[in-house]
Amino acid sequence: MNNALLLEKKQQFIVIVPAAGIGKRMLASCPKQYLTINNKTILNHTVNRLLSHKNIAKVILAISDNDDYFSQTTLVDNPNIIRVSGGKERVDSVLSGLQAVNDAKWILVHDAARPCITHNDIDKLIEQCFANNSGGILAAPVVDTMKRACQINAHENINETMKVSETIDRSSLWHAFTPQMFKVNELKQAIEQAQKKGLVITDEASAVEQLGLPCLLVSGRRDNIKITRPEDLVLAEFYLNQQKLEQIKG
Ligand code: CTP
Ligand code: MG
Repeated sequence: MNNALLLEKKQQFIVIVPAAGIGKRMLASCPKQYLTINNKTILNHTVNRLLSHKNIAKVILAISDNDDYFSQTTLVDNPNIIRVSGGKERVDSVLSGLQAVNDAKWILVHDAARPCITHNDIDKLIEQCFANNSGGILAAPVVDTMKRACQINAHENINETMKVSETIDRSSLWHAFTPQMFKVNELKQAIEQAQKKGLVITDEASAVEQLGLPCLLVSGRRDNIKITRPEDLVLAEFYLNQQKLEQIKG
């Protein structure tokens, strides 16, 4: 542990967890955060990982007003969970969570669909952000060769297949994960400004970048996957079971 975190060892953080998506790409009969792994919902796994971290006091959960599942989970009675209304896009859900934050200086945001987050990676993120007095995100360098795609001529393109337009230099490309950590006032301002300008925001970092503020890339474990497509569920189960063997708390 570095000095920055030693100094702030007792500091407690709030994590906003956007969990109001429908999980369209998962092709399941319920929103993906309510699918189960080892008899626990993905949402339970994720929130338990967060609340069992020594520096995390509360989780603000953005849940859709039309959600029929949350009330059936064990999370509903947890005094350390604050429920807020989710919005149309992920960013709206995050903003709704931010509006429920009172006097915190820093905030973390973590996808409900990333149950394999480890305490060690959360430590790394907090330490780096503190040490540099800067926002930051967990991320990993791209390992595959990257191609830019373009359409094949419409008349010969029966299956909407794409073709390669060019190979991109991957040496400076990273995958963005969560948690992402920022100062509350900066993140609020960044999201509000981006929304005013009608910009598309897929993660908090992209809003903060548009404001010209720095965002650290903190190298994280590649098993911190976002469950997105059906095949990811079995992978997440595998990683969670592996992590149990590594004695990572869940
Ligand atoms: N999310 C949210 N509010 C929305 C959309 C998404 O809180 N309006 C949350 C999701 O519940 C998820 C996280 O943002 O925890 C990351 O989004 P993603 O993986 O895209 O989830 P979904 O939007 O549910 O999935 P899909 O895009 O396949 O529909
Ligand atoms: Mg989505």
